Amino acid sequence: MATRRNPEPALVTLRVLAAALAVAFLVGVGPAVAQQPSGSNPTAMSVTEEGLLRELDRVQGRITIPDGKLAVLEQPQGRDYRRFHEGWLPWIAGIAILAMIVAIGVYYFVRGPIRLRRGEESGPTILRFDAFERFTHWMTATSFILLALTGLNYVFGKRLLMPLFGPGAFAEWSQWAKYAHNFLAWPFIIGVLLMLALWVKDNVPDRYDLAWLKAGGGLFGGEEPPSARFNAGQKLIFWSVVIGGAALSVSGILMVFPFALTGIGGMQTAQYVHSIVAAILIAIMIAHIYIGTIGMEGAWNAMGSGQVDLDWARHHHPVWVADQVDRRLDSAAAPAE
Ligand code: HEM
Repeated sequence: MATRRNPEPALVTLRVLAAALAVAFLVGVGPAVAQQPSGSNPTAMSVTEEGLLRELDRVQGRITIPDGKLAVLEQPQGRDYRRFHEGWLPWIAGIAILAMIVAIGVYYFVRGPIRLRRGEESGPTILRFDAFERFTHWMTATSFILLALTGLNYVFGKRLLMPLFGPGAFAEWSQWAKYAHNFLAWPFIIGVLLMLALWVKDNVPDRYDLAWLKAGGGLFGGEEPPSARFNAGQKLIFWSVVIGGAALSVSGILMVFPFALTGIGGMQTAQYVHSIVAAILIAIMIAHIYIGTIGMEGAWNAMGSGQVDLDWARHHHPVWVADQVDRRLDSAAAPAE
């Protein structure tokens, strides 16, 4: 006889089943039901990135950290900058530098270096750059070349050097390159300012420049037109160094002191300007270095000893020589005090 103490086996089974079903319901289905009052896609209500970006200008928020510049929740421009730095920049810098090297190579093998004329190496000399001018030049030149190499490491190091040296050595080199890049910026900035002070008066456009540019300075055939201390090509180098140097210095200082003077947008702009101007100036300097070494016989002396052959100077900078001679004659003629 079935009593409360000894219930029907079927009843027992039923109760066990019901309990099991209840447990299964509670464990399996409960939470889901709890979460989706409507039973639709569970992630539908979560904030998608696209949704957030769409509402970005209406999203209000507060940050408690003192520096308000860091109150940036989403910054889509960061994605554009990464695409530029990892994608476009290596191509821009690579093409600018390689194209210049190839162009100079072709020029050298087709036309060869600008040769000395007879008697341009053995005669009297004239001082073209004094000691302070040469010091200024080489301080700027050396720091620029090291800045260029350590800067290019940011763009090409991972791709070209790391496979060669391995991650450990590359990391070590990159750390030192970063220090060098940060500290060599200062002699470069001082050098550019000194070059500006020393040579701006000789780099003002004058009446010889147009004819020089029209004739391509005699570099592609024909006679080299007369010029003063600096010909139009050198003036372009000078103003590239001054303007490019200023852009590199300002954008560089913004990056040496991150977020001190600008927010994330300004930091990205500084990196765009810095990397593109650097690529262009490096290409220009490759041409300058070519002319200053093997590209023009006799040129090196100007920045080496500072003394150039008088005939060489008459050939390339006749107006400057005439002016120098006049000055000496004037000073010689001036009655002693
Ligand atoms: C190994 C590297 C370099 C060599 C061999 C070199 C050589 C020369 C020479 C020979 C001159 C005198 C040209 C003349 O008689 O008028 C000169 C001038 C000059 N150099 Fe350099 N230079 C080098 C790197 C640089 C760099 C990196 C910069 C700037 C960042 C620079 C900026 C200038 C400027 C502004 C002038 C005066 C304007 C001109 O002549 O173009 N140089 N350089």
